[in-house]
Amino acid sequence: MEGLIYLDNASTTWPKPENVYQYMIDSYRQCGVNPGRSGFDLAIEASSLLNNVRARLTKFLGGDEATPERLCFTYNATDALNLIIQGLLTSGEHVVSTNLEHNSVIRPINHLVRDAGVIVTYLPFDNAGFVDPDDIRKAIRSNTRLVIVNHGSNVIGTIQPITEIGRICKEAGVLFAIDASQTAGVVPVDMIEMNIDIVAFTGHKALLGSTGIGGLCIHKDVEIRQTRSGGTGIRSAYPYHLEEYPWRMEYGTPNMVGVASLWAGLDFIEEKGRENIYQHEIKLARKLVEGFRDIERVETYCCDSMDNHLSTVIMNIKGMDTGDVGIMLDVDFNIAIRTGLHCAPLVHQQIGTLPLHGGVRFSVGVFNTEEHIDRAIAAVAEITTRARTQPASAK
Ligand code: ALA
Repeated sequence: MEGLIYLDNASTTWPKPENVYQYMIDSYRQCGVNPGRSGFDLAIEASSLLNNVRARLTKFLGGDEATPERLCFTYNATDALNLIIQGLLTSGEHVVSTNLEHNSVIRPINHLVRDAGVIVTYLPFDNAGFVDPDDIRKAIRSNTRLVIVNHGSNVIGTIQPITEIGRICKEAGVLFAIDASQTAGVVPVDMIEMNIDIVAFTGHKALLGSTGIGGLCIHKDVEIRQTRSGGTGIRSAYPYHLEEYPWRMEYGTPNMVGVASLWAGLDFIEEKGRENIYQHEIKLARKLVEGFRDIERVETYCCDSMDNHLSTVIMNIKGMDTGDVGIMLDVDFNIAIRTGLHCAPLVHQQIGTLPLHGGVRFSVGVFNTEEHIDRAIAAVAEITTRARTQPASAK
């Protein structure tokens, strides 16, 4: 869209790198057949792409390269998280999670609490937006089966101390899963070094792939019950779903265009350098926060320090409705952001923005520029002048 400033990269990164579009089209044209079902050359080529992406992502996430079959594809992170939460927890078991979670964790857990006798503890974060690993240690009980933590918040942008939490879970003998939706591709994830048993990821955010693809990387000692069943392309006479990975977690024909997008997204990230991408984004996010600080009536949350932070910044304008601010940014300034609760109601409850209908979230991506940030700051400054006639009652 002509002149659009896209600052909604926490929803989905956009645009994608040119090589991602190109590879999705080329690979689908050249071998867009069903992988793992038939024995002709093209089908074998499609299977190779699938398995090459499994191996490459396992390495990228610091998983065990000897078990690439433990990298299973799903539709997205929500799908991945449902599979593990439903497949791990049973009646009487306890799960520790946090107020930072997205509904993709909260809702599957809450369904099990309501319907299946699972017990949950949601831990708060501190004023800066971080969960204290010691709170996790204290919350673990004899019946705790799983600790599941959002690696990087999609609302306040804080990156959690995963290494410390992983150590605590390992010492306690409790499974540790992370929701890496916002981090995989831009923040280091190292399953072995960080003692992570399961990583749930999505393809369409920092991994720079398409929507409709995500996955799980699962440690070889973790067994997850199947909660779905269907076609796998092999051992079709067997009356039940296969127990072996990756089929154990995969059902039906995979999204091969999405799988291809992940390959090309990794090409882009590795060529540019993950850390360089992070530094670019965080530099712009810092500039945004500094700009907001100088504007009367703007209130930001959990970004006094941008250390251990994603390039996601949430704010409100005192006296103005969050939805109205979003509409003005869109209609009057051609700036795309996301307002509301961002599918993470407990975060908003804790930072006090629930009664304000949430917040106005800006999320910087690899293709944003200094000029985009200058224009976003100027737009917010202009919008605040429209609030001056209203009481500054928002929080
Ligand atoms: N979870 C995505 C977001 O935070 C969609 O916007």
